[in-house]
Amino acid sequence: MPIRTQIVGWGGYLPRKVVTNNDLSEKLDTSDEWIYSRTGIKQRHIAAEGEVSSDLATIAAQRALAKAEMTPDDVDMIILATVTPDNTFPATAARVQAKLGMTRGVAFDIGAACAGFIYAASQAKNYIETGYAKTVLVIGVETFSRIIDWDDRRTAVLFGDGAGAVVFKGVEDNGDALSRGIISYEIHTDGRLYDILRTQGGPSETSTVGTLTMDGREVFRHAVGKLVDVAESLLKKANVTIDDIDWVIPHQANARIISATGERLGISPEKTAITVDKHANTSAASIPLALMEMGDKIKPGDLVFIEALGAGLVWGGMLIRW
Ligand code: ACO
Repeated sequence: MPIRTQIVGWGGYLPRKVVTNNDLSEKLDTSDEWIYSRTGIKQRHIAAEGEVSSDLATIAAQRALAKAEMTPDDVDMIILATVTPDNTFPATAARVQAKLGMTRGVAFDIGAACAGFIYAASQAKNYIETGYAKTVLVIGVETFSRIIDWDDRRTAVLFGDGAGAVVFKGVEDNGDALSRGIISYEIHTDGRLYDILRTQGGPSETSTVGTLTMDGREVFRHAVGKLVDVAESLLKKANVTIDDIDWVIPHQANARIISATGERLGISPEKTAITVDKHANTSAASIPLALMEMGDKIKPGDLVFIEALGAGLVWGGMLIRW
C-alpha cells in the first residue's frame, strides 16, 4: 500500500521579549506608520541574551510532539531549516536531537532561508514515502536578530526570532476519500539572484558571520511573480482550482507581498493566515508558526496551500490535505 505523509502535530515558540515599532523608532529614524503601512508589521519577538536557535527549536519540537501525543523516542529524523545556526558546525539539528534526549536517528540542517520550511517538509515527504523514515520532525528556526545591522532602518525593522515545528508521520493510504497528507510540492532555486538578499560575510568569505543586506524592491518584484507561478503550477498538476483551497499559509515576510499574491491568484483574505503583524519575518520559522496559530481552525480534509520565497533566491509551494 502506498504511504502518505501526514501532519500529526505542530507547535511553536516565540521568545518572551517583544519589540514594537515604536520601540525601534526610539533608536532609528523610522516610525510605526512607515513600517506598518509598507510591511504590515507591528512588533517582533527577540531572543534573550544567551538564548540560541537550538533552545527555541527544542521548545517548539517538544510542543509539536506533545500535540502529536508522541515522545522524542518516536522520531526517526530531524530536519531543521535555518540560516542562523548556533554554530557554523555541527548542525543545529544535532544539538536539538541531544536536547530532546534522543539517542538514535538522523538529524541535519537545511539552509534555504525563508523557504527553508518547504524545502525541509519536501525532504520529509521523500524520506517517509520511500520508507526510510516513519516519523520526521521538521523544525524551522531563526534568530535573525543576531545577523541584522541594527543601525540599518531598511532591514532592521523587518525581522524577528522564533521557531515552529511540525511532526510528519507515514501512514498507509487506505484509499479513503480524503487521502490526507502532502499531495505535492515544488521547490526552485535561481542562484543568479544571490546578491539581492544575503549576508555580507560568512565563515569562508570573511571568517565572520556578517550582517544582512537586501534590495527590497527586487525581492518584492520577484516574490509575487514567482509565488503566483508556483501556485498555479501546483494547482494545475493536482487538478484543483483556487476555489478548492480552504487555507493559504504563506511565508510571513510582508503583508503587501501576501495580499498582492493573493489578489493575483483570486484567494479571499479570510482564507489567508496573517501573523506578520505579531511575529514580523521569522524566515524558516514563519510557516510553522502560522500553522501553530491556524492549526486548530483547519479541519480534517481541508486543502491547505503553503508557499514561500527567500534568499538564494529559493522558493516553493506545497499542497496538503489536512
Ligand atoms: N523607516 C523609514 N524610512 C525607511 C525605512 C524605515 N524603516 N526603510 C527605508 N526607508 C526609506 C528609504 O531610506 C528610502 O528613503 P529615500 O528615498 O530618502 O532614500 C525610502 O524609504 C524608500 O525606500 P525603499 O527601500 O525603496 O522602500 P520600499 O517602498 O521599497 O519599501 C520594503 C521597503 C518594505 C523592504 C519593500 O521593498 C519590501 O517590502 N520588499 C520586500 C522585501 C521583503 O519583505 N524581504 C523580506 C525578506 S525576503 C522574504 O522573506 C520574501
